[in-house]
This record gives sequence, C-alpha cells and structure tokens, in this order.
Amino acid sequence: MTRTVYLNGDYIPETEAKVSIFDRGFVMGDAIYEVTAVLDGKLIDFPGHMARLKRSLGEFSIRNPLDDDAYLAAHRKLLELNGITDGMVYLQISRGNGGDRDFVFPPEDTPPTVVMFTWNKPGMADNPLTQTGIRVITLPDIRWKRRDIKSVMLAYPSMAKMQAKAAGRDDAWLVEDGFVTEGTSNNAYIVANGTIVTRALSHDILHGITRAAVLRFADEAQMKVEERNFTVAEAQAADEAFITSSSMFVMPVVQIDDAEIGTGKPGPVAARLREIYLEESRKSAI
Ligand code: PDD
Repeated sequence: MTRTVYLNGDYIPETEAKVSIFDRGFVMGDAIYEVTAVLDGKLIDFPGHMARLKRSLGEFSIRNPLDDDAYLAAHRKLLELNGITDGMVYLQISRGNGGDRDFVFPPEDTPPTVVMFTWNKPGMADNPLTQTGIRVITLPDIRWKRRDIKSVMLAYPSMAKMQAKAAGRDDAWLVEDGFVTEGTSNNAYIVANGTIVTRALSHDILHGITRAAVLRFADEAQMKVEERNFTVAEAQAADEAFITSSSMFVMPVVQIDDAEIGTGKPGPVAARLREIYLEESRKSAI
C-alpha cells in the first residue's frame, strides 16, 4: 500500500515525495530524527520525543521549523491518513537544501527539510521475540563522540546490525574501553544481585525516551537501579539482560557473544518492566 507521507507541510503519496540531491541530510548526514511508537492509535511519550528533538536541533544549530502543536497535529494526521493503530512515526529534520555541496552551512534563512512517515505494525506490543529474547554479539563502538544527539549518521550502527545478522544473531552491543555503551539502536541493561544496571547519561549514549520511562517506573516499583558502566564479562555473568527502545519497548537479551545469560530464558525483571512500561505508557499516550 502506498503510504501518505509528510514533506514540508504537504501530505502526499510516498512515491511523490522528493527531496533535493543537495539536501544536507542526504550529502552530509546533517539531520536529526525521532521515532515515536503508536499503540491503540495514540502516541507513546510524545512530549519526551519533542523535548529530545529540540535538544538535538539545538546541538546541531538547526532552526526548529515548527511548534510542538504542529508536530503533534502532523503526527496525528499521518496516523489517520494511513489508518495506523499500532506502529511508528518517523520524523526527520535536516538543515535543508544548501544549493550545492559545501561544508559551510547554508544561509540562516534556508528552510529546514521536514519529513515524516509511518510504519504500520499491527500487534506491535505482542512481539513474539519477547518470549524467546534476543541474542547479541559485541562489537567495538567506533561511532562519533556525540551519540547523545539523535542524528541520522547511522552507517556504523547499520553495519554492526548486519554483522550481528551475519553471525546469526539479532543485534550487537557496542563496547568502548571495555564497557558496554548501548545497542545499535537501543539502550542496554543488566540485572545483577537484584539491581538493574545501565550506563549513566553522557555524550556516550543516546538518552533513550524509553530508558527514562523504564527507570522511573522501576524506581516507583521500588526496584534498585544503578546508573554506571558495566563490562561485557559482568553482563555475561548477570542474572538477566535486556534492551529498551521505542520500537522494542523492553526486550530480554538471552545471549551475549558465547555466553547464555542467567537461565538462557527471558527473566522476570525484564518481563515485569515490560508489563509496567506498556501499561503506564498506554495510560499517558496522547
Ligand atoms: N533507536 N540508543 C540508540 C543508539 C538508538 O538509536 C535508540 C533508538 C535508543 C533508544 O531510544 P528511545 O528509547 O528513545 O527509542 C538508544 C530508534 C528506535 C531508531 O533508530 O529506530
């Protein structure tokens, strides 16, 4: 089915959406993005995604072309036009069309390019992988040093994911100076001695919107949380491991490289967090 997508204020068939070859997003990776989950036709944690969008734009010095209400209206209109009940909305903003390829930014008044599109994922919250968990390999984290900015420079995460697939695994955890940073497109956690451990926020990782919610819910449920670095060896010896992201919510990890985690089956902490996350996120969805 041809989707209706959003391009700079217009709602048009995906086949008609055209962006200049000089767009900075295309030639320079000079663009930022957000991915928001949709359950029961409603947007999960939309204010969180808007806050991070504005932060990413600010860090890139890209002018924010729309206000929050306009982003919300456009998201909702795309859901309606594409009949999405469960799925995702992708939003990308680039520095726009510089008129040529140039390392110098185009003039301040160059309009940013705004693109939005949807994915239909019926039953997304009942992902069968939740029952089996996922298996990851570890790879060196050779991304740039501002991973807190949600930029479209995703060549390495994509290559890492392909390496995982080639090894017969689902994903890769990235490792820097002996410590796990995060997954290719998700935040990474372990559960050891009854404590949920995940790397603290810094420029080293994306500040996951799901991460923020899950840690808040864990705290409210009196679960112990430590935000600190952990090694691959510590993760392999943990009782549980899991990831979070807007598309996977909370997903158990049952193998890291050659080591099975805990019983080799999804553990109770990840299952409980997933349940709370889905329940609470549905309540606050808009
Ligand atoms: N990825 N870390 C990285 C490197 C990510 O790309 C993502 C999200 C996350 C989790 O963030 P959040 O909970 O806000 O989705 C962590 C999205 C889903 C993607 O690129 O498709």
